[in-house]
Amino acid sequence: MKIGIIGAGDVGGTLGKRWRQKGHEIMFGVRNLQSPKVQKLVQMDQNFKVGDISEAAAFGEVIVLAIPWTSVEETILNSGNLSGKILIDPTNPLTPDLKGLALHDTSVAEKIAKLANSTRVVKAFNAIGARTLDNSVFDSQRADLFICGDDRHAKEVVEELANDIGFDVVDIGPLVNARKLEQLALLWIELAFKQQMGPNIAFKLLKRKDDF
Ligand SMILES: NC(=O)c1ccc[n+]([C@@H]2O[C@H](COP(=O)([O-])OP(=O)(O)OC[C@H]3O[C@@H](n4cnc5c(N)ncnc54)[C@H](OP(=O)(O)O)[C@@H]3O)[C@@H](O)[C@H]2O)c1
Repeated sequence: MKIGIIGAGDVGGTLGKRWRQKGHEIMFGVRNLQSPKVQKLVQMDQNFKVGDISEAAAFGEVIVLAIPWTSVEETILNSGNLSGKILIDPTNPLTPDLKGLALHDTSVAEKIAKLANSTRVVKAFNAIGARTLDNSVFDSQRADLFICGDDRHAKEVVEELANDIGFDVVDIGPLVNARKLEQLALLWIELAFKQQMGPNIAFKLLKRKDDF
């Protein structure tokens, strides 16, 4: 699959590397082609394509917005025609002190859907650390990846992409539930940093099959 990843930092770079290992075609959309992060990725794998934001957005059937949430509006405006594309939103609207969320009664994912006039936004990869994107297995257990969105086909595609890199997917329903996933990211940050469990943690939903 052709995947355009806007942002080549911890989340974008790691997802690009993992999907490339599974044979997907990756183009990073960046502001500065010469930045050390971008150059490191290109040296790691010469099959990585790099362009500006509109080039990566045009390239991908799936677009990942691996950027700060404050850059989302500008990025969507610079992305050109996004109709029909699946937009993955891993961002979190954290306050600068990382103690809370800067958005209330909405979510970044819902804002993206409005800005891009798209129903194919999927919230995913936001309540998990970048290290776990690189290695999703804890002993013999795969980490869960919580996703939500309004388009069933878009969620199926994201589920396949997540399965490819070793995640079990839990679909938590419509895009409005991105508000809950952004809260879940706050819990992850609390546990990892304030409660000092470290970034090698991930959530797992337990289900009893015969009980419902
Ligand atoms: N790190 C994690 O463990 C983690 C986990 C879950 C979710 N997230 C979320 O995922 C997103 C990315 O996080 P990250 O850790 O990958 O951040 P990061 O390492 O700081 O990388 C951010 C990337 O976004 C680019 N960028 C910043 N502003 C931009 C703009 N206006 N236009 C285009 N590109 C821009 C940066 O490019 P430059 O190099 O040019 O600045 C960089 O490539 C954030 O919203 C974060 O909240 C992070």
